Amino acid sequence: MILEHGGRLNAAVKRWGIARQHWLDLSTGINPLSWPVPEIPAHLWQRLPEADDGLNEIIRDSYAAPAHADCEPVAGSQAAIMALPRLRQPCCVGIPVIGYQEHAYHWRQAGHTIVSISAAHIHAEGDECWLDELDVLVWINPNNPTGERIPTATLLRWHARLQQRGGWLIVDEAFIDSTPQFSLCAHSGLPGLLILRSLGKFYGLAGVRAGAVLGDATIVQALRKLLGPWTLSGPARYLMAQALQDLDWQAQTRARLLADSQRLAHILQSAGLSPLGGTALFQTVQLDSAAQLAEQLAAQGVLVRSFAEPGMLRFGLAADEQQWQRLQSALPAQLGD
Ligand SMILES: Cc1ncc(COP(=O)(O)O)c(C=O)c1O
Repeated sequence: MILEHGGRLNAAVKRWGIARQHWLDLSTGINPLSWPVPEIPAHLWQRLPEADDGLNEIIRDSYAAPAHADCEPVAGSQAAIMALPRLRQPCCVGIPVIGYQEHAYHWRQAGHTIVSISAAHIHAEGDECWLDELDVLVWINPNNPTGERIPTATLLRWHARLQQRGGWLIVDEAFIDSTPQFSLCAHSGLPGLLILRSLGKFYGLAGVRAGAVLGDATIVQALRKLLGPWTLSGPARYLMAQALQDLDWQAQTRARLLADSQRLAHILQSAGLSPLGGTALFQTVQLDSAAQLAEQLAAQGVLVRSFAEPGMLRFGLAADEQQWQRLQSALPAQLGD
C-alpha cells in the first residue's frame, strides 16, 4: 500500500480536467520559493559519491549537533522513516494519533505494536507513566498537520524516561528549520536519541530527496549499514552541502516564511476559518465540512490537503501576490462550522 500525500498534481489534473499550469497547489508544506539551485559540477554526475566529502561535518555544524553525535545523510527523511523500524526486534512504539502517517505505517509493517499517543497522554500534567509501556516513541516536532510543538525540556524528559529502560526517542524535525531554536539537535549525542531532518520543506527541495539522521552513534552506524553505500546521489550531496551553508538565504527565508504564514492565518481567519495550528510553512483548520470545502476549492483550481477524522484542511503558502489574491477570492465568504 502507498499512503496518500499532498502534491498529487497529476491526479488533480485528471480528476478536475484543469491543466497543470492553471493549478494553485497549496496541498504541501513545501516552501514555494525554494533555495536557488546552482550549476552542478560535471564530475558529480560522473563519479560515485564519496562518504568522506565533508558533508557529515557540514550537517553537524548546520544543525548545531555536538561532535560526538553521529550523522548520516539520507535520501529524504522518508528513507530513515522506512529503515529505522528494521533496527529493532518487534516492540511497542508510541506514535502521535494525528501526524505524518508514514511513521506508524512502517513500524507496523516491520512487525511492531503501535500505541497511539493522543493529546490526553501528552497533556496529562505530571503523569508520564504512559511512556513506561513504550520501547520507542516517535514524535513529530512541530507536528504535521497540527503544527503542535512540544517544548525541548519535555522531549528531553520523555527521552530520559525511555532511556532508563534502553528505549529510543525519535524526533522528526522535518518542519523545524524556520525555528531552529526549538531543535533537539544540540542534544543529539545522547544515547537512544535520533533526530530526522529534511531538505524538502524549508529549502523547498523535496524533489532532491535529501535529509539527515543525527544521534546515537550505535544506532546511526546500524542504519548506515542497513542503507548501504551511495544512498544519497553525488549531486544531492553537493546541493545539500551548499544549501546548508547558505546562511544569508536561510535568514531571509526564515523571516519571509514566518510573515507569509501569518498572512495565511489571517486570510483563513477572515474567511471564518480559525487555524487549529500551523508552522511557518502551513496552516491547518479544523471543520466538519473539510472534504466539501477542499472540493469547492479544487473546482476552482486551488488544491489543499484534506484530512478526515477529525476533518481538517491544511493550506500551504502562496508564492506571490497574485497567488495570495487567488486564494483569498477562492475561499467562500464567512465559512466555518
Ligand atoms: C512530518 C514529515 N516528516 C517527514 C517527511 C518526509 O519528507 P522528506 O522525505 O522529503 O524529507 C514528511 C513529508 O511530507 C513529513 O511531513
